[in-house]
Amino acid sequence: MTTIAETLAAARERLVDSPSAAADAEILLAHVLGRERTWLRAWPERAIDAGRGARFDELIARRAGGEPVAYLVGHRAFHDIDVMVTPAVLIPRPETELLVETALGALRGRDPETRVLDLGTGSGCVALAIARACPDARVSAIERSPEALAIARANAERLGLERVEIISGDWLQGLGGRHFDIIVANPPYVAAHDPHLQRGDLRFEPRAALVGGGDGLDALREIATGVLPHLAPEGVVAVEHGHDQGARVRELFTTEGLADVETLTDFAGHPRVTRGRAPAQRPAGWPGSGARAWR
Ligand SMILES: C[S@@+](CC[C@H](N)C(=O)[O-])C[C@H]1O[C@@H](n2cnc3c(N)ncnc32)[C@H](O)[C@@H]1O
Repeated sequence: MTTIAETLAAARERLVDSPSAAADAEILLAHVLGRERTWLRAWPERAIDAGRGARFDELIARRAGGEPVAYLVGHRAFHDIDVMVTPAVLIPRPETELLVETALGALRGRDPETRVLDLGTGSGCVALAIARACPDARVSAIERSPEALAIARANAERLGLERVEIISGDWLQGLGGRHFDIIVANPPYVAAHDPHLQRGDLRFEPRAALVGGGDGLDALREIATGVLPHLAPEGVVAVEHGHDQGARVRELFTTEGLADVETLTDFAGHPRVTRGRAPAQRPAGWPGSGARAWR
């Protein structure tokens, strides 16, 4: 029998290609043993039985082949929640917490029953984190992939957040005359031929969750051009985008008539989320004006 310390040391050597070999090995061993990582550090001399050792070996082999740790353990922490993930959904990223914080900032001082919409919800992480933080907010989420929808709904149930409305849909189409006070989206925004798609975790994630057409901006364009008729007066829209797409998204938002357009930087200092605000009053000639009531 080998000890925890010996097992982790051997695993780190097999994960030479991973930039996070030590953390990967600890997370996978903690998963197999049903313990926290801190427990491993507290008991490095404990022996691991053959069955668990074999299960761990198998996971290390898959990780050495590039499979993301989150898919191997089946979940990922995000903001104040932990969400189930499978290869049908994007793995929630730490930088996407800025989108949640932007929504929570926009919620402050508003009616408690503020209507929030998350476009392209995937695992549901953004919508569910907002709903967890704001129990009175009326949160809805849209997703096109049936497999991802099933994961988002399962996560809502696991987290006791069944009140979040999870809808099958294609961005803003099919919403009829519905309006929201806050609309957020982390759409696919990688360019189709970006070499990063062939590296790291991205190789295993759904292409439909990553690629936004030739220049990466297809979904951002569609959301920007369609969002105003679905925003309440002074409603806020915020979208995540690539670090080099901020100027283009600000231009799209400004062209569509959104006010107070600005780009926020993530914890790493990268321009990551652009937000804008609908005017207080619908001007004459507004897209769809006359066809829809504001509320
Ligand atoms: C970048 S992932 C974001 C997932 C999740 N919101 C997050 O932040 O981790 C984009 C999501 O948009 C979904 N999506 C792609 N095209 C869509 C469309 N036309 N309508 C609705 N959702 C779409 C994808 O299936 C994917 O789940």
